[in-house]
Amino acid sequence: MPRKIVLAYSGGLDTSVAIHWLSARYDAEVVTLTADLGQGRDVQQVSERALRIGAVAAEVVDARDMFLRYFVFPALQAGALYEGQYPLATALARPLIAFLLVEAARKHGADAVAHGCTGKGNDQVRFDLAVQTLNPHLEVIAPIREWSMTRDQELAYAAKHGIEVPVTSEKPYSVDANIWGRSIESGVLEDPAVEPPEDVFEWTAPIERTPPQPARVRIGFESGVPVSIDGEPCGGIALVETLNALAGHHGVGRIDHVENRLVGIKSREIYEAPAAVVLHQAHAALETLTLTRDAARFKQDVAAAYAELIYNGKWFSSLHQDLMAFVQSNQRHVSGDVVLKLHRGTARVVGRTSPVSLYSKELATYDTGDTFDHRAAVGFIRLYGLDMVQQARTQRLPLASDLPRLAARETESGPGA
Ligand code: ARG
Repeated sequence: MPRKIVLAYSGGLDTSVAIHWLSARYDAEVVTLTADLGQGRDVQQVSERALRIGAVAAEVVDARDMFLRYFVFPALQAGALYEGQYPLATALARPLIAFLLVEAARKHGADAVAHGCTGKGNDQVRFDLAVQTLNPHLEVIAPIREWSMTRDQELAYAAKHGIEVPVTSEKPYSVDANIWGRSIESGVLEDPAVEPPEDVFEWTAPIERTPPQPARVRIGFESGVPVSIDGEPCGGIALVETLNALAGHHGVGRIDHVENRLVGIKSREIYEAPAAVVLHQAHAALETLTLTRDAARFKQDVAAAYAELIYNGKWFSSLHQDLMAFVQSNQRHVSGDVVLKLHRGTARVVGRTSPVSLYSKELATYDTGDTFDHRAAVGFIRLYGLDMVQQARTQRLPLASDLPRLAARETESGPGA
């Protein structure tokens, strides 16, 4: 009996050629797996193409709900933005696809899984590590890493073996997309000095073509998870799709990021992630009302660690479980509503409310009704600065009278001289 390999199949040129190449090279039967993550391709059509090319079975999974529930929203709760910018759409999808591959391998009795990643990117790391941790007995095959064919050679291979080549647009970009965002690489974008041409964007309007009037949107959260839009309860998929359309229409969600890949390469990435940008902004605003200062400060470190862990392909790790336990606990009071104004490419938070807000108008106000004990401040400052004052008494520190002399010396010879 020939061995079986489950291939993560997107329907693109690389993985279409891989169906044929894997069965020839490994004398194997290829089962394809195509997950609908909201990438906007008809996955049913994609799976039919797999069968025409020669796959013995073509699995299709609508994984959008799972993706949002177990991957995207936890990352949103964590505030995970890689290097402060990238909402991690691709990075979050990989462990889920790996999980589905491992499941399909079990179902079909396959001893290997395959993916279409190159040897230069992060995605290979994410797939390989996720599969190896979920089922160490599975072999992971990455045809593109092995065959070293150029695009033209792949086209020639396809022509020679009668492989149906997907109709591609003329655009010279490498794109990955799911409901949480699109990434666009290569072509002219490889020069970080060059402004992205308008044809890289598909989800966001250019500023010149955004509506003159701003839009307001109210997003409701429960324990850090978005649950309503404009007061209407809304499931995850509809909520993210609605915000992608609305914010994208106002030109919100473009990110131009020179990022540090795990494999040591700097790469210039263009992202479109309207819903992710708006939701991260809204979520952070709600945290300003509902987290204590200490919790908020500590969480910044957790957010950075969490983003890095996801980016670097360590989803299925115990550190992830530990960080997530903190995040879930930390988020239990992050409930309430945030209003944003979308206009000409920017989203701004203009209001926030929470039934468990820590904000107290009675403490903050400068008007009548102030309940803050002003006299208590005197004792507080005395103890808070005790060490500084003691030091000033006994050690020589710059005196106020020194400042004009120090400033004059700087202007004569320039700062730092
Ligand atoms: N740089 C991003 C990341 O590492 C996007 C990768 C896009 N992947 C792709 N195969 N086009 O997550």
